Amino acid sequence: MNRTVLGVLVSGRGSNLQAILDAIGAGLLKAKIGVVISDNADAQALNRVAGLGIATAVIERKSFASKIDFETAIVAELKSHQTELVVLAGFMRLLGRNFISSFSGRVMNIHPALLPAFPGLEAQKQAINYGVKISGCTVHFVDEGMDSGPIILQEAVLVNTDDTVETLSKRILEVEHVLYPRALKLFCEGRLSIDGRRVIITDDDSK
Ligand code: GRF
Repeated sequence: MNRTVLGVLVSGRGSNLQAILDAIGAGLLKAKIGVVISDNADAQALNRVAGLGIATAVIERKSFASKIDFETAIVAELKSHQTELVVLAGFMRLLGRNFISSFSGRVMNIHPALLPAFPGLEAQKQAINYGVKISGCTVHFVDEGMDSGPIILQEAVLVNTDDTVETLSKRILEVEHVLYPRALKLFCEGRLSIDGRRVIITDDDSK
């Protein structure tokens, strides 16, 4: 089976990028990272691929007059590396219509809450402040809205009475690192299709 080429967009720490690298390294995920693009020159994520022979690019919003020009540059970079699936891994920007239509149904994101609850920034803090007893994380296809695209996988994490934003975030992050590679694997095996708001997961024929 050919390896699906991933283009990973990051802005910061890159622990999900690390989980993806580890899953590929362990042979669990038949994919190849074609390029890692950061909108932040100081992102720790860039250090994670240093020396691995993976192409990187820093494309900063401030270098462009408009959001469209910025996103056009990212699309060009992704296409120059034959990207088949765009993986948002802590990329802190909302992507516009032009970008999304360039990779229709081929942009994925992970969010640290059970969507549609708590979209946007500081989802773990939103969950604590709301007082929910269960939160978790969601992998979804990206549309033009804020964390509003069709849901691929979700997993719950219990919220404890004494949880802080830090302790809850840490437990959710551990689950993220398993869930994101699992969703990517489904995509790479051609087992995901989008039907309106629903993502259909087909069975694994090889079993
Ligand atoms: C994760 O919590 C992810 O759910 C959210 O941004 C964070 C990125 O963390 N979208 P990292 O950069 O992958 O460590």
